[in-house]
Amino acid sequence: MIRLERVTKRFPGGQVAVRELTIEFDTGQLTMLVGPSGCGKTTTLKMINRLIEPSEGRIFHDEQDVTHIDPVVLRLRMGYVIQNVGLFPHMSIADNVATVPRLLGWDKQRIRRRVNDLLELVGLDPKQFAHRYPHQLSGGQRQRVGVARALGADPPVLLMDEPFGAIDRIARERLQNEFLRIQREVRKTVIFVTHDIDEAIKLGDRIAVMNAGRLEQYDTPAAILAKPATDLVIDLLGPDRGLKRLSVTPIDLNALDRPPVVHAEDSLADARRLLDSRWDRVIVLDRNDKPVGELDRDATAGDGRVGDRARPLEALIGADRTLYDAFSQMLIHQASWVAVLDGDRFRGVLTPESFVAAIQRVPAELEGARR
Ligand SMILES: Nc1ncnc2c1ncn2[C@@H]1O[C@H](COP(=O)(O)OP(=O)(O)O)[C@@H](O)[C@H]1O
Ligand SMILES: [Mg+2]
Repeated sequence: MIRLERVTKRFPGGQVAVRELTIEFDTGQLTMLVGPSGCGKTTTLKMINRLIEPSEGRIFHDEQDVTHIDPVVLRLRMGYVIQNVGLFPHMSIADNVATVPRLLGWDKQRIRRRVNDLLELVGLDPKQFAHRYPHQLSGGQRQRVGVARALGADPPVLLMDEPFGAIDRIARERLQNEFLRIQREVRKTVIFVTHDIDEAIKLGDRIAVMNAGRLEQYDTPAAILAKPATDLVIDLLGPDRGLKRLSVTPIDLNALDRPPVVHAEDSLADARRLLDSRWDRVIVLDRNDKPVGELDRDATAGDGRVGDRARPLEALIGADRTLYDAFSQMLIHQASWVAVLDGDRFRGVLTPESFVAAIQRVPAELEGARR
């Protein structure tokens, strides 16, 4: 665990970058440091690995005061990834990734194995990339090498300063997804600086919002979206913070609406019997409970099988997705409900009212979850 206690950084000339900052970063958590340019994010990060020394206050790593740790030893425990990575241009990708293991005096074979594992972990085929030089890679690939190098000797802590900032949107989204996958595997204590609130919401277990060297709010993305503490946080989240909340709200299978269901081989009379004042449509399932269509009251008139009359059901969403994706399905298909699938099985529907209800439910749950 990393803890800052009333840390202040005053630069020569009097500029105060960080003011009496007290904050804890939990082990194995991905914490995002976010805030406007110049608010002190980079300075905070660099004080943690002693690239910058605090003017006042103390910083602890696992209860050890970092000023009592040799900076070289400290930095071996803390991988560091920055924008444009700063790979050594005259060294191959393999040698770049091997930097820290070589410093630690590992034998050649162990280093080679580690480099291969790391390149594979970050999605670069060692056969293709190990012997290339940094200028022979795209910006996104170089950034992956930067992450691999930072993980070199398996440090418990990873400090990242806008690592994906200089990369185009599509490559950045791919890197973010890859990074989440890697983090699920390696479970490092990550402190990740960004000025991009969407990146913070997407990646963070927790978000620390900074402003003018101070902590403005520190909580989970869902809690910050549900209850922004100050006007600055509201500004930072933007006018679409309602939609952003949907993006951090999982689909709750217990809160789905359950319209009447029929099977394709049932009769239209069966379907008619299920309609009432609340439901004027039914969902049609196949033999394996996979939804294949829907049928409104008019279509149930007369004799025949349900399967011959059903309209295809287009608005579908997997139960492992968020309300944001579900809402988008509704808009894309101009549907008035979205069927939720667990694997292939129908579990219920989300209606416009379900989205409103879900958003209203969140704060109560958050209150309960807080320390
Ligand atoms: N070496 C330095 N000397 C003087 N002022 C600095 C130095 N480094 C940063 N600052 C100032 O400290 C403040 C915080 O900078 P920084 O931590 O880089 O912000 P952020 O990373 O949030 O954009 C800024 O006002 C910046 O100009
Ligand atoms: Mg910065």
